[in-house]
Amino acid sequence: MAEPQRARIEFDPRFTVAEVPERLFGSFVEHLGRCVYTGIYEPGHATANADGLRQDVLDLISELGPTMVRYPGGNFVSGYRWEDGTGPKEDRPRRLDLAWGTTETNQFGLSEFMKFCRTVGVEPNMAVNLGTRGLQEALDLLEYANHPGGTYWSDLRRSHGDEEPYGIKLWCLGNEMDGPWQIGQKTAHEYGRTADQVARSMRYIEPDLDLVACGSSSRGMPEFGAWEAEVLTQSYESVDYISAHAYYQPRDGDFKSFMASAQDMELFIDGVTATADAVGAKLKSDKKINISFDEWNVWYQNAPTGEREEPWAVAPRQLEDIYSAMDAVVFGSLMITLLRRCDRVTAACLAQLVNVIAPIMTEPDGPAWRQTTFFPFAEASKFGRGKVLRVNADSPSFATEKYGDVTALHSVAVANEDGTYTVFAVNRDLESTLTLEIDLASLGGLADVTCSTLTDDDPNAKNTLEEPTRVAPVANGDITVKDGVAYVELPAMSWNTIRIA
Ligand code: AHR
Repeated sequence: MAEPQRARIEFDPRFTVAEVPERLFGSFVEHLGRCVYTGIYEPGHATANADGLRQDVLDLISELGPTMVRYPGGNFVSGYRWEDGTGPKEDRPRRLDLAWGTTETNQFGLSEFMKFCRTVGVEPNMAVNLGTRGLQEALDLLEYANHPGGTYWSDLRRSHGDEEPYGIKLWCLGNEMDGPWQIGQKTAHEYGRTADQVARSMRYIEPDLDLVACGSSSRGMPEFGAWEAEVLTQSYESVDYISAHAYYQPRDGDFKSFMASAQDMELFIDGVTATADAVGAKLKSDKKINISFDEWNVWYQNAPTGEREEPWAVAPRQLEDIYSAMDAVVFGSLMITLLRRCDRVTAACLAQLVNVIAPIMTEPDGPAWRQTTFFPFAEASKFGRGKVLRVNADSPSFATEKYGDVTALHSVAVANEDGTYTVFAVNRDLESTLTLEIDLASLGGLADVTCSTLTDDDPNAKNTLEEPTRVAPVANGDITVKDGVAYVELPAMSWNTIRIA
C-alpha cells in the first residue's frame, strides 16, 4: 500500500452551482431481458401485489430512491406498438422484439407502468417510437395517455379501466436514432426534422410538455457534435432537452483509466452544452437546451450476456452484469459528475433499474438483492437534495493512459434543505489512502461530521445470490475535527458520503 496522501476542499453556502433538479435521480425500465418480467413484474411471485408487482422489489426501489423512470426503451421502443400493451391482457398480442431477439408477451404495458409509477411515487418518462413509427402514432399515444376523455383514444383508455388521464409530462422523441443498431436509424437531418415535427404536433395537444430530442448514443460516435448541431438546428425551439448516453467499463485491464471514467462524462457534458449553446447563439434564441443524461452506468458490453436461451425466448437473462466494489466506486464518481453539472444536466436516468445492468437483482420465484452500485445511488438520492455548491479543491493526481493526470479526489458538496451539508467524495486512487481535509469555516459552526464509506480490499468483490450482502457501505470511524477542519480518511478506491450537521 502506498503512502497516504492529503487533499483539501472548501465551499461556502453563498456560492452555488444550481438547485439539484428532481429529475436527476431517474432510472430506466426497458422491455429487455428480465427488467420487466420477473424483475418488477411477476404476478406469481410470493410477494406480488394485486397489480402483479413484486413487493420485495418495490421495497428496494423505495430504498434506492429514484424520482423518475424512463420507459419502455431503449432500443426496444424503436419497434414497439404501444397499443399492444393496452386493454385486456388475454387479447394482447405476442410479438417478436427485433431489438433484443426475444418474444414480447405484452402482459405489461402502459397501464401497468403507470400503476408502477404511482406505487413507487416516480414521475413517468415516456419514449415514443420514431424507428418503425412516427408522428401519428406518437400523437395517438399522447391522446390516449393524457387527454381526459370524449375522443377515440382517450375513451379507449377509459374503457380499459383508467378513467383518469395519466398526465405524462416528460417524453423522449425516439431512442439513439444515430445508432446503426437502431431499428429505423436516421440521419441527423432526417431525425432533426422528425423530432421537430413530432414535438410541434404534440404541443398542439399539450403545449407545456417537456420534450427530449435524441443526442448522440455516446461521445465516441463518429458524428458526435455534428449530430447534436444538426438535430438542434432543426428542432431548437420545439424541444427542451437533448439526450446523452454513456456506459463505462475497464478496457484491456486499464483500471486507472476506468477509475477516471467521469472525465469522459464531463467532456461529454461540456461538448453537448457548448454545441447546444452554439446553435442557440446562431439562432439568436434566448432559450437554453438542457441535457437529459437518460442512460448512464457501468456496463460490460463485451461480456457474455448471461444465460443464453433459445432464440425468441420470453424474458431471457440478458445484460445481467454483476457489479464489483470497483464498479460501484466508478459509478459513484459518475453520480458526482451529474451533481456537479446539474446546472445543465437537469434530468438523468440510471440505466437500468432491475436485472438489466441494474442496481437491483432478482431471481424468478426467489429473492431480490442490492448490487454494489445500489449504494452510491441510494445515498446520492437521499442526501444529494438541495443546492450544489462550488467547491475549491486541492488534490494529488495520478497518471492515466486515457485521460492524462487525474485528481485522486472527485467530490461535490450539497447544501441540504435542512441546513446540513453533504459531501460525496470518491478516492479514485487505487493504492493510496487520502486524508480529506474539509474546511468548516463557512458552515456556521457545524462540526458534527460522519461518513459512510464503500470500499473493499478485493476490488472485484460482488454481491451475489449466494452472498447478497458481501459489499455495503460502513460507518467510517477515521474522522477528527480540529480547529474548524474535519479530517476524513478516504480509503483507496472508495465512495464516501460525508454528512456535516
Ligand atoms: O440500456 C441498454 C441499451 O443501451 C438501450 O436499450 C439502448 O438505448 C442503449 O444502447
